[in-house]
Amino acid sequence: MADPGLPVTPEALSALLADDDRSIAERDRLIELMTLLNRLPDPPDATRLFPRFRELKTAFLEACTGRDGELLEERFLELYAHLHMHEAPYTPTERRRMDATGGYWAHAGGLSPILRAGDWIFPTTRSVDLGAGNGFQGLLMQRLYPHRHCCQIEISSAMVAIGRRLQRWLSIPDRRVEWRTEDVTRTPLGGWDFVYLYRPVRPDGPGRRFYERLAGVLASEPQEIVIFSIADCLDGFLPDSFDRVASDGHLTCYRKRARGPR
Ligand SMILES: C[S@@+](CC[C@H](N)C(=O)[O-])C[C@H]1O[C@@H](n2cnc3c(N)ncnc32)[C@H](O)[C@@H]1O
Repeated sequence: MADPGLPVTPEALSALLADDDRSIAERDRLIELMTLLNRLPDPPDATRLFPRFRELKTAFLEACTGRDGELLEERFLELYAHLHMHEAPYTPTERRRMDATGGYWAHAGGLSPILRAGDWIFPTTRSVDLGAGNGFQGLLMQRLYPHRHCCQIEISSAMVAIGRRLQRWLSIPDRRVEWRTEDVTRTPLGGWDFVYLYRPVRPDGPGRRFYERLAGVLASEPQEIVIFSIADCLDGFLPDSFDRVASDGHLTCYRKRARGPR
């Protein structure tokens, strides 16, 4: 077993990830993220909320001091996924809303949107995660790319409560994150420059209206807007003012340029 106290340097991680096929910028952000999780203490209420944290962190640290870049990534992903959590607790009322709206469970959007978002989030950005779970995606984006405001909208009140604690764990100031325990199909939408979502509701039945409304609001606003959509449901709802700038089957990115005088 590796000594969890062993220092792991960005240089050592960089050497291990030398064959990684990401861009240099994304690889550097991954290294920053790995270094961050390396240095943080145990998360809040770890025994109850994150029972495998120690085990997974030790395995990750072992890989950090090994020679296998793929194993390093695999172990880091396991640690990330554990902190993200994949089972959200819902009250009976929240569960009824989930069923009524075709809500999707708390699967993790993965590291790629976090690493790629660095190209699109600036200090003035107002971001949102629609269906945020415990908000881990938005929190990591806020921590890596400090920006004006990150709005986290999630139906599970328990996940929001956990997210608030993770925010303190990550030393992100209160004013930088707005938590809204709300149903995305009913909450007011808009006022964001960077929109992240992972299929909070199915795009048919009652969920269809949500995507229509979201597309309508985003199209009507004058500012530049970038959308990161995992398992994309917005295709077919967005008007021509949005270009699809990238898609790899998992993450689809759209961009609408600002309107008005240049
Ligand atoms: C696939 S997960 C995505 C989690 C996170 N955004 C990510 O990308 O890793 C979808 C999330 O949407 C939430 N959700 C489902 N229906 C919702 C609704 N009607 N309003 C708000 N959140 C909802 C679920 O509780 C879950 O946390």
